[in-house]
Amino acid sequence: MALTHAATPSTLRLLRFDRVQRAAHWANAALFGVLMATAIPLYFGTLFGIVLQRHVIEMIHLWCGVALPVPIIVSLLGPWGHQMRHDLRRVNYWTRDEIRWLLSMGKTPLQADKFNPGQKLNTIFIGASIVVLLATGSMLQWFRFFPVPWRTGATFVHDVFAWVVFVVVGGHIVMALTHRDSLKSIFTGWISVTWARAHATHWFKEKSTESDTARSE
Ligand code: HEM
Repeated sequence: MALTHAATPSTLRLLRFDRVQRAAHWANAALFGVLMATAIPLYFGTLFGIVLQRHVIEMIHLWCGVALPVPIIVSLLGPWGHQMRHDLRRVNYWTRDEIRWLLSMGKTPLQADKFNPGQKLNTIFIGASIVVLLATGSMLQWFRFFPVPWRTGATFVHDVFAWVVFVVVGGHIVMALTHRDSLKSIFTGWISVTWARAHATHWFKEKSTESDTARSE
């Protein structure tokens, strides 16, 4: 593992997101943004023609939807995806303390990992919603291949997930805007050691051990 500490005049910092992760995050965010913006006229059916015709909006929505898994898949495959795969394993690994912390809404003590349980849950939901929206959206588009009850079910599930996506993405944006250090790290990749020690203690200790090991090698 590469030593990721880099000294600046006044502070030490850690690499939180590499380039591949940042690119995947922003490509995914852009696709979600377009999908959510086009979903509004598709759902309410009243805003067509104001900016674009219905067919154009449908096509933008459809093809952004089909492209949705691409940034995640590309960022996970190949040698460039090492950090992404490593972080995905972190998101899937839950300790008893993390579950307790989540159930108590953050009131029980926790030495958080690189991502806290709320961030892990957000990532899992976004991943699941990509799969569900892609499957149900494909059924809405290529409906001839599916029986009527499946199509009705697909419309219902697509709509329910769409509503939850609006709530979760809205919450994610509020959290990002109110946690400036975290927000900066998804632009630059770096986070201060002071932040890591306070908010991701377990990860900080892990990185410290790594650099100690690297120094002694
Ligand atoms: C952020 C993700 C997404 C959101 C918020 C979203 C939301 C919506 C909403 C609200 C509708 C209108 C449903 C209705 O009229 O009851 C819709 C329609 C549709 N969505 Fe999505 N969707 C998303 C992702 C996807 C994906 C991944 C696909 C992939 C194929 C897709 C394909 C479609 C299709 C084909 C329609 C029907 C358009 C029409 O002809 O009216 N959507 N979506």
